[in-house]
Amino acid sequence: MQTIVITGANRGIGLALTHQFLQAGHHVVACCRQPSTAVELLASAGSLEIAQLDVGDAHSVQLFCQQLGTRAVNVLINNAGVMGGDHQGIHDMDYQAWMHTFEINTLAPFRLTTALIPNLKRADRPRVLTISSQMGAFGLEMGTGRYAYRTSKSAVSKVMQVLAQELAPDNIIVCPLHPGWVRTDMGGASAEISAEESASGLFKLIDNLTMTESGRFWSWDGREHIW
Ligand SMILES: NC(=O)c1ccc[n+]([C@@H]2O[C@H](COP(=O)([O-])OP(=O)(O)OC[C@H]3O[C@@H](n4cnc5c(N)ncnc54)[C@H](OP(=O)(O)O)[C@@H]3O)[C@@H](O)[C@H]2O)c1
Repeated sequence: MQTIVITGANRGIGLALTHQFLQAGHHVVACCRQPSTAVELLASAGSLEIAQLDVGDAHSVQLFCQQLGTRAVNVLINNAGVMGGDHQGIHDMDYQAWMHTFEINTLAPFRLTTALIPNLKRADRPRVLTISSQMGAFGLEMGTGRYAYRTSKSAVSKVMQVLAQELAPDNIIVCPLHPGWVRTDMGGASAEISAEESASGLFKLIDNLTMTESGRFWSWDGREHIW
């Protein structure tokens, strides 16, 4: 049984990923800010452990790592993310919100990944996946606005590319992933795919990753994504 750590596991893609890994018989450490109100997560069947974790809070990360102790972690999925609010326009920028978006979408995956390196090193075929977005891809010209969100995702993809190089000697696989345009609170009702479809594709991808795929940007459907 592999141990899978997933952040933002109480709703959306994180919850669907949690269900995928539980159904496959893995032990999931499902992290969320408020475990007591995570109703759907609490009702999930399988080898589930729910942990309190605010990824933007260094102290919370420290307490979470203490809870994990020296356990091996096979898969870390940095899924928690924010869209960054409604004021990301060329004439209407909320700079505080932009900074917060960077803290959650870019800095937090780095902080948690580096904190868990000892746990990853103890595991068989350790993998670190960060849910980035095509909205941060330089090779795609996709719409306007959403500066905070787009730049936070461009940056976290780069962070993962560099981490992949640095962690290669430890055989830790590191990839940013695009989950598709997904019907969640963030993606909205008119998005292209359900959270279950996205999670199913991501699960297959993550299950098959080897060092050959490390440091590359992948889409939920198994195709390599343009940076
Ligand atoms: N939906 C899409 O179309 C789409 C496309 C590309 C990329 N993505 C990315 O996919 C990931 C999941 O998105 P989603 O669509 O499932 O979004 P969502 O439904 O809005 O869920 C976001 C999750 O992140 C958690 N979160 C936010 N801030 C947090 C913090 N400080 N500490 C811990 N957890 C925190 C939320 O927890 P709370 O319930 O406590 O707020 C929630 O569980 C995000 O990184 C997002 O950027 C989504």
